[in-house]
Amino acid sequence: MSHTMVIFGASGDLTSRKLIPALYRQFHRGRLPKPTRIVGVARSVFSSEQWRSQLAETTSKYVKGDFETDAWNAFADQIHYQPGDIGNDQDFHQLAEKLTEIEESPTTDRVYYLSTMPQLYPVAISQLGKAGLNIDTHGRRRVVIEKPFGTDLATARHLNEAIHQTFREDQIYRIDHYLGKETVQNMLVLRFGNTIFEPLWNRNYIDHVQITVAEEVKVGRRGDYYDKSGVLRDMFQNHLFQLMMVTAMEAPVRYTGEFVRDEKVKVLQAVRPYKGSDFAEFGVRGQYDGYRNEEGIPEESQTETFAALKLYIDNWRWRGVPFYLRSGKAMSCRTTQIVIQFREPPHMLFGDSKSYRPEANRLVIQIQPAEGMQLHFQSKVPDSDMKLRLSELDFQFDSNGKELPDAYQRLLLDALTGDPGLFARSDEVEQAWRIVDPIISAWKSPAAPTLYNYEPGMWGPTQSSEWMNEQGRNWFDVCPII
Ligand SMILES: NC(=O)c1ccc[n+]([C@@H]2O[C@H](COP(=O)([O-])OP(=O)(O)OC[C@H]3O[C@@H](n4cnc5c(N)ncnc54)[C@H](OP(=O)(O)O)[C@@H]3O)[C@@H](O)[C@H]2O)c1
Repeated sequence: MSHTMVIFGASGDLTSRKLIPALYRQFHRGRLPKPTRIVGVARSVFSSEQWRSQLAETTSKYVKGDFETDAWNAFADQIHYQPGDIGNDQDFHQLAEKLTEIEESPTTDRVYYLSTMPQLYPVAISQLGKAGLNIDTHGRRRVVIEKPFGTDLATARHLNEAIHQTFREDQIYRIDHYLGKETVQNMLVLRFGNTIFEPLWNRNYIDHVQITVAEEVKVGRRGDYYDKSGVLRDMFQNHLFQLMMVTAMEAPVRYTGEFVRDEKVKVLQAVRPYKGSDFAEFGVRGQYDGYRNEEGIPEESQTETFAALKLYIDNWRWRGVPFYLRSGKAMSCRTTQIVIQFREPPHMLFGDSKSYRPEANRLVIQIQPAEGMQLHFQSKVPDSDMKLRLSELDFQFDSNGKELPDAYQRLLLDALTGDPGLFARSDEVEQAWRIVDPIISAWKSPAAPTLYNYEPGMWGPTQSSEWMNEQGRNWFDVCPII
């Protein structure tokens, strides 16, 4: 079976930094279906040869040791460029002609990857429809849509409706690269490939769950976009919710796309909506010092660069177990981690409660940049009376010392071969917006809770730690050792 990937936004950052390196690496490892042609589309005018030589330069930079000239030349033979404006009907007819010319067979499967500005997604989709490029009576036709998918529930719905006029839901692949990460997929294996965790994975043994996506960087040159978005749109609605879903979902009947997605969306459906004073009490918002002096940020900006939320999942497994989600920019370090905090033993026999209060068990799942897990437990201090100390079992998720594959490698291959399991479905995206929309509105209203400042390099505002302490809990503020 032959394949074509058409990339709209061929001259952009994502294409050169992620998409082409990921496709090249899969080709290099012999995993890209043969033949797979790549057709780039953007308004910039250059020839296929010029695009290939630009990509050779950028790819060698991003794939480092994996770059081999012979392999690249063989891969680059399948790369083509077609100048075109998404707003121009004629350009789509020319694209259709180009595709027919380079594809040997009408049964070729095609993926259209929209790696361009979000406002162009509906236009590109409608143009593909008008040019008949969506029809899959012979080869399959799929469309990959980058994040962000809408900016709130209304725009996400509108976008879904617009896309559904041209493509069926089973042709649509909404990307959230977090799901392509090996460590996120390992969560599913940890939970459903073992028997020892699942009996404990519920309200009877777990006190709470913490999910942190911390960035060390500030807004940089993305200020204009970021100030309109804020951390809830930028991180919670997509990445943090994906991590919450894989942590909290029930075991699917089978490990196939629809069964997995059915279970994931049920988690979001069970999230208790905020109401009344919840908007102030169930979260902390912050902005790092100096944010308002960044390029593109208004002097009076009230945009959060940090947020912590407490969510409840009202179902049999999780009723009463808080899920603490937090994310921020300019934090202590870059880390994405999930902490499963178990309950304390019902009756503590050891330790003098005045001098040492044993910490309860904790499972720390490191998603990035460290990739592994640590199980914290109490053990006896050797040659002591009955003194306890916190010990850990440490698992490093590496692949024999080699770098783990980039998330896009797996996702691009899944899109080419038609496996939608790691992509978001329309109901999932809409449900995620249904949860964050009211929080965003409440936090923008005159009754919004205080926007606390924090020093760059901290774990958010001090009020975030105080808020946890008031609930008898602590954030697990530990930078991973890599
Ligand atoms: N970069 C990342 O790391 C990253 C990460 C996650 C998600 N994303 C998402 O991925 C998408 C692309 O991001 P990016 O950073 O690559 O953006 P970018 O560097 O600004 O690239 C945008 C691309 O769209 C093309 N384009 C703009 N208007 C066009 C038109 N009318 N017709 C045809 N092509 C047009 C541009 O090429 P011409 O000017 O030559 O036409 C360019 O190739 C965005 O939705 C972004 O949110 C990016």
